[in-house]
Amino acid sequence: MTRPLPAVITAAQNASQRMADRHTPFVMNDWYVAALGEEIKDQLLARTLLGRRLVFYRTSTGQVVALEDRCPHRSMPLSAGTLTQDTIVCGYHGLRFNTEGDCIEVPSQANCPKNVGIKAYRTHERGAVVWIWMGEAEEADLSKLPPQEWMESPEWERSQGYLSLQASYVRLHENLLDLTHLSFLHAKSFGTPDYAKAAFESVIGDGQFALLRNVVPTTLPPVWAIPTGLTGQGQAARIVRSEFRSLGLHEVSVTFYDCHLPENGPENKRPEFRIRTAHMPTPETATSTHYFIVHGRDFALNDAATTRFMHDQLFVAFQEDVDGLALQELALASTPPEDLYEFSVAADAPSVAMRRYVLTRQRQETQG
Ligand code: FES
Ligand SMILES: [Fe+2]
Repeated sequence: MTRPLPAVITAAQNASQRMADRHTPFVMNDWYVAALGEEIKDQLLARTLLGRRLVFYRTSTGQVVALEDRCPHRSMPLSAGTLTQDTIVCGYHGLRFNTEGDCIEVPSQANCPKNVGIKAYRTHERGAVVWIWMGEAEEADLSKLPPQEWMESPEWERSQGYLSLQASYVRLHENLLDLTHLSFLHAKSFGTPDYAKAAFESVIGDGQFALLRNVVPTTLPPVWAIPTGLTGQGQAARIVRSEFRSLGLHEVSVTFYDCHLPENGPENKRPEFRIRTAHMPTPETATSTHYFIVHGRDFALNDAATTRFMHDQLFVAFQEDVDGLALQELALASTPPEDLYEFSVAADAPSVAMRRYVLTRQRQETQG
């Protein structure tokens, strides 16, 4: 074969138009991760989020400040200025701004004009990350942030990191919602050949999308086999739930156990090992994404060597996603629109539903 019939291409193109992609404007009214908490210190940090240039810093009392990164006098980025006594002094003519973005000093005159300033954004630091709300200020509501107890609980051991992705955040959410790609894109890291063929179940709800996969029996790759001790050929069960929780958070939950042991043995319950990964994409531009990751486990607590081993192995795998999605973005960008079509398969059902939801959210937001 051969190129599909024109009618097939048209149908695929029409289906794609009902899904969000890199051309879809950002959904502003939601919580996104702005930074890892450890990145924000008592110095100015410039970062573009949702296409807007922002400047961040931490005050002497530990509060995170997020301001528009543009002086309202002559548009010098404030991140090129100086942080002094929890205020920013613009590096061009010295206007000073407080944590609310209000101009509080103009060096060349005695009085500072009233009601001159820049936009300040609401932030919320929780666990290892700082969330930000960049939409309508009155809509900012912490109840819209999905629960994330394990990201703060002492019963979970965690590590975190950041990757810069040269692709749309929509494609990262799509990537995470179908882990079929583990057998191929991650063939050398944490995928196994049986993964793609394992039975799966799609969960499609109102703003919640998930794909569940039970890979049993399977052989675990070293990143999981070594810390769990499930190193035998065909010894393990790998039970995976991959779930879109919000525009800013996708969560992968995996349980491992020895599939040859009964769930409730005569002496004790079968040991189970749980890991969770919060994948938190925040659009930077239409085709670049800040990719924040927090990974946790409920075993081998206080074991720094295991944390380092798993973190390093996992970030090799996540870099494979980053590299793959960048290639995908290049292919998309270099294909003329009239030639571009993509067809979907059964395992794409949650991600197709998710992309429709994102487009609907965006349209609702612009239509008010
Ligand atoms: S541009 Fe900032 S003080 Fe003039
Ligand atoms: Fe992946």
